[in-house]
Amino acid sequence: MLNKKIYREEIISRENNRSDISENASEESFEGKKIFVRTFGCQMNEKDSERIIGMLKGGIAVNSPEEADIIILNTCAVREKPEHKVYSEAGKYLKIRKHKKNLKVGVTGCVAQLKGSEIIKKVDVDFVVGTAALYKIPNIIKEVLKGKVVVDTSLDVNLSDRFESPIPYEFYNGSRVKAYVTIQEGCNQFCTFCVVPMTRGREITRPASDIIREIVELVSSGVREVTLIGQNVNGYGWNTPGEISFAQLLRQINKIDGLYRIRFTTSNPRYMNDELIDAMAECDKVCEHLHLPVQSGSNRTLKKMGRRHTIEEYYEILEKLRKAIPNCAITTDIIVGFPGETDQDFEETMNLIKTIRFDDIFSFKFSPRPGTIASRMTDQIPEDIKSERLRILQATQDEITKQIMQSYIGKVEEILVEGPAERNQETDSTGRTRTNKVVNFKGNPKPGEIVKIKITEAFRNSLRGEIAENVV
Ligand code: SAH
Ligand code: F3S
Repeated sequence: MLNKKIYREEIISRENNRSDISENASEESFEGKKIFVRTFGCQMNEKDSERIIGMLKGGIAVNSPEEADIIILNTCAVREKPEHKVYSEAGKYLKIRKHKKNLKVGVTGCVAQLKGSEIIKKVDVDFVVGTAALYKIPNIIKEVLKGKVVVDTSLDVNLSDRFESPIPYEFYNGSRVKAYVTIQEGCNQFCTFCVVPMTRGREITRPASDIIREIVELVSSGVREVTLIGQNVNGYGWNTPGEISFAQLLRQINKIDGLYRIRFTTSNPRYMNDELIDAMAECDKVCEHLHLPVQSGSNRTLKKMGRRHTIEEYYEILEKLRKAIPNCAITTDIIVGFPGETDQDFEETMNLIKTIRFDDIFSFKFSPRPGTIASRMTDQIPEDIKSERLRILQATQDEITKQIMQSYIGKVEEILVEGPAERNQETDSTGRTRTNKVVNFKGNPKPGEIVKIKITEAFRNSLRGEIAENVV
């Protein structure tokens, strides 16, 4: 039984009478209701925010909370800081509700899953919905609109409901060229620092046929690039007898007509194998980029983190990858100040980033999370040492990233046009290289087109260039 009920389900109401929320996604229309969703955290949460908009049929996504009839705070619990932000952010929205009596404010996502009704004790929101119960949101909001207060953190959800993701109407005007597609949910790895297995539950695999169906539908709405998301995407299907492997999944998606690009995140070094590297090299739509979190350069720390691979194995994977795909961009996640991390351990992480020369890293100070083994370790590192290590790590990486960005100058890169650039919206467009670098350029080709851009300038986080040729 993969979807055992392991968390509580509570449904309470202001009148204190229990009312059960129907399990079925409602056909109810939210015609004209203005919905504002504020998203924190990872791609899984971004996708869930899109699912919310897609499920509230007839609702209109708006960009400011002041305009909204329903405000949803989709939260992240992976570190302490974003968790604390929930309360201050919710407070802001509740102020708006003071003057707008019909406004409903809710919390969804990982903090909702973790804290449940505790949230309502701290901030007087109208609903709290966890990660797995998200598919019930149409019916929950229906109840909320009648004046009920609902808390639902149940994890006993069946497979197709868990991945329910109607395409939001806004995809159909052709302006959305990129989409996330969930291929698995949850995580069974229990790295000792990580709260995700608690916030997203045990790992479940979405059937490949459903994944393909969603992508075909997205492509018909104008999407040209998909990012397959999950916590260990490259381990796809390992716990589901009869399911195809991740490499086979990539090969099938690669055949979908009208799709130009395939990305995926996050991969776990533990599940990297030659079959996958071959598929990445052979599938023309799979982009030359791998995000492969390493967390630390020290075997001692990796072991304490429960990562189940050594640094030598990590080097070996990247060596094979670079041999098969020489221009592959590689990015990673790193945690500094994990309990017991010595100067020597940190030095090994510094050696790793200097040796590998990642295109970029996402680096964090270790943040003790409730219910994790690492939060109970007695050799916690003082905050000032964590900050100093993070500063040194990021300064070194900044130099490496800048040099890599500089190396693009003079090259002609294939860019998938996403739309107007952030700055100079009237005249400039933006897109990404296959290696995932943001490129801004003059001109207004249609979103979804592929253009060749000659790179002329490089910055820390983006490139600039000129159109050399329109391709598709
Ligand atoms: N599934 C992914 C990671 C999900 S969490 C993997 O296999 O690595 C995203 C990143 O947040 C992690 O890679 C890690 O670097 C960081 N992170 C997770 N828990 C953390 C904690 N307690 N403190 C600091 N950073 C953390
Ligand atoms: Fe977290 Fe490790 Fe899973 S980092 S999401 S427990 S692979």
